[in-house]
Amino acid sequence: MSTDPSSIPPVTLAPALLSELRAVVGPANLLTEDADRLAYGIDGTWVERLPQVVILPATEAEVAKIVKIAARVGIAITPRGNASGLSGGALPRAGIALALTRMNRIIEISRDDQVAVVEPGVITGELQRAVERIGLFYPPDPSSLSVSAIGGNIAENAGGARCLKYGVTGDYVMALRVVLPSGAVIRTGGRTVKNVTGYNLRALFVGSEGTLGIVTQATLRLLPKPRHTLTCAAHFMDIEAAAHATTAMLLSGIIPTTIELMDRTTIDCVEALLHLGLPNDTAALLLISVDGNHLDAVTDDLATLAEICQTTGATQVQRADTPEEAARLWQARRSVAPALARRRPNKLGEDIAVPRSQIPAMVRAVRAIAAEYQLLIPLYGHAGDGNLHPNILCDRRDAEEMTRVRGAAAAIFAAAVALGGTLSGEHGIGLLKKEFLESDLGPDQIALMPAIKATIDPTGIFNPGKIFPTGTAEWE
Ligand code: LAC
Ligand code: ZN
Repeated sequence: MSTDPSSIPPVTLAPALLSELRAVVGPANLLTEDADRLAYGIDGTWVERLPQVVILPATEAEVAKIVKIAARVGIAITPRGNASGLSGGALPRAGIALALTRMNRIIEISRDDQVAVVEPGVITGELQRAVERIGLFYPPDPSSLSVSAIGGNIAENAGGARCLKYGVTGDYVMALRVVLPSGAVIRTGGRTVKNVTGYNLRALFVGSEGTLGIVTQATLRLLPKPRHTLTCAAHFMDIEAAAHATTAMLLSGIIPTTIELMDRTTIDCVEALLHLGLPNDTAALLLISVDGNHLDAVTDDLATLAEICQTTGATQVQRADTPEEAARLWQARRSVAPALARRRPNKLGEDIAVPRSQIPAMVRAVRAIAAEYQLLIPLYGHAGDGNLHPNILCDRRDAEEMTRVRGAAAAIFAAAVALGGTLSGEHGIGLLKKEFLESDLGPDQIALMPAIKATIDPTGIFNPGKIFPTGTAEWE
């Protein structure tokens, strides 16, 4: 947090308007103190954007009433969950920060239909535990799952390690209830496995980063929980060998649950934070897991993947022999983002994705870019699905270094797109990547998207200034 308290702009919303909004949610749930505006003006990035007012509704009806008032007077609304997002999607730009954290009920878990019906403020990890208690499984597992809210996962179409086998959040969204900018509420989708009635609007809302509607309820697809999951860690003396091992494993006919990469700097940073006893003599680690219902088959598959690693240059492959040992490895992996944040004052975490055949080329490109721009760019991420997180470590106070950071970020995006990849695999575009959008999507698509937005939100009150290029880089 860097805001100088004396520079906080005052609340300029008319007292009568604040009273009207307060009457909807009750006085305890409308906040205008500077400290509250600051607390709801940040996310997982380094950028801050202060709302005029923070509102915490408890019901869909309250959300709809607030939206109607905001539409009438023309003030912006930016929905947010627990704001662990990494692209700035949840940052308010003045107007209302609409925090959906009080709408955190699991309404139903249906074993018969294999769905969960949830409010947007439910924490991802809590949903996972609740469904696992009755033998079901909600696979999307962003690293932030102990804090991230399902509404935010839907807004950014969050991913995670298990997406390699199971797909991303959007693959589990069967139905949504959404408050539109008019205040109308729609239900899109249902709880049938198949549903091709009309346009697939729920797919449009997934990943729309709060720019089209506010999700007030989601029906999520569940799977039977696989009975066994086994994990191993493969050590490599060379990160490119780890990348080649990844592509070789993907050609083996086995679908691993995860293939996660951590490079040397990443391992060092996690070790400095958690002291887990990670190896100190290896250039890269792959965390590989396999799941299924038959222990013998899962064991065989993991052994096959371990062999592939050995033939492609792994110096050691260690199987986690107990669930505790596997949990320790996953704790290490999920702690990467906070661990890297301690190494230098700031970090710019990227999220490019490339086709699986291009994973080694992307790893090489990131290393070359780090050397060219003289920056420390630890590389980790979801190697198995080609979704890598090069993190540019830096100090925002150093203008010369920040020029190099911008150059390196642009070069990483250009390399990903040139390899047939994309700017973002799972974090979204938000504020931080919008000026690069055209390089990925091209001008005609860039023209189409705001037209869709204008049809649904003609006065532009929902999360303005996000996703689409505005000509102003908003990194500060
Ligand atoms: C991760 C987040 C940063 O993979 O996406 O840890
Ligand atoms: Zn990730």
